[in-house]
Amino acid sequence: MNQAVSLRCTIPPSYSRGAPAINRPFPRVLFRATPTSMIDDDKRIAAEAAVAEIRDGMLVGIGTGSTVAFAIRAIAARLPELRQTIFFATSIATEQAARDVRVPIGRFALASRLDLTIDGADEIDSALRVIKGAGGALLREKIVAEASERMVVIADASKRVDRLGAAPLPVEVLPFARSFVATRLAALGAEPVLRMADEGAWRSDQGNVIFDCHFASFPEPAGLAVALQAIPGVMGHGLFLREVDAAYVADGGTVTKMERNTT
Ligand code: 5RP
Repeated sequence: MNQAVSLRCTIPPSYSRGAPAINRPFPRVLFRATPTSMIDDDKRIAAEAAVAEIRDGMLVGIGTGSTVAFAIRAIAARLPELRQTIFFATSIATEQAARDVRVPIGRFALASRLDLTIDGADEIDSALRVIKGAGGALLREKIVAEASERMVVIADASKRVDRLGAAPLPVEVLPFARSFVATRLAALGAEPVLRMADEGAWRSDQGNVIFDCHFASFPEPAGLAVALQAIPGVMGHGLFLREVDAAYVADGGTVTKMERNTT
């Protein structure tokens, strides 16, 4: 069983400028919060809570996505106290974003074990099972998560679900095996939709294609993970069923930490 622990509850909200109130007694309403800025605030505070776990000297994996972008900024702000820390990126985009703010990035090919990885998620259930891969970095993210002593995910509350499977499940596929794998995915009950870019099939950092799999009825996740991994040509899938140790999920300015109970 996992425990949900409420950590803290105040954030400085972001505001968008609204029309000034006229002929009204104080307090005047000069600014109005927008839903987008509130979600960004939640992503930011979830990211900051996770980045607080980093201790100097650690080897730290950095995931991919818009929530992780806030983590990169939080890491950059802590760099003076993290001089001996080495970071490892799960995508070319993350590596670039980190280098842009002078976060030092090591070569994961030379690392066999990391202390901590911080990553985003597309869905998180109460057992800390996660769907990832909307950003297309699922294969490197899975490898880095597996290499990490501890993996924490960060998210706004829209990612919390009672049951996995409303989000499409990304499956990374060797282009050579594209049609064959699509047939096997359909046999598992999926409607596989090839992810597209402007100029054709979208390609991962490894040059693979991705099928976003929609299920009329989402199968039992552990069995589905085994079945997917058994298809030749499947390079990876977005089900992270046992990798995640903790989740920081923010909702309206409150961060809740869910920790996997290991006892
Ligand atoms: C990339 C991922 C992302 O972590 C996931 O899609 C969440 O992204 P965001 O924080 O932008 O919602 O799995 O492969």
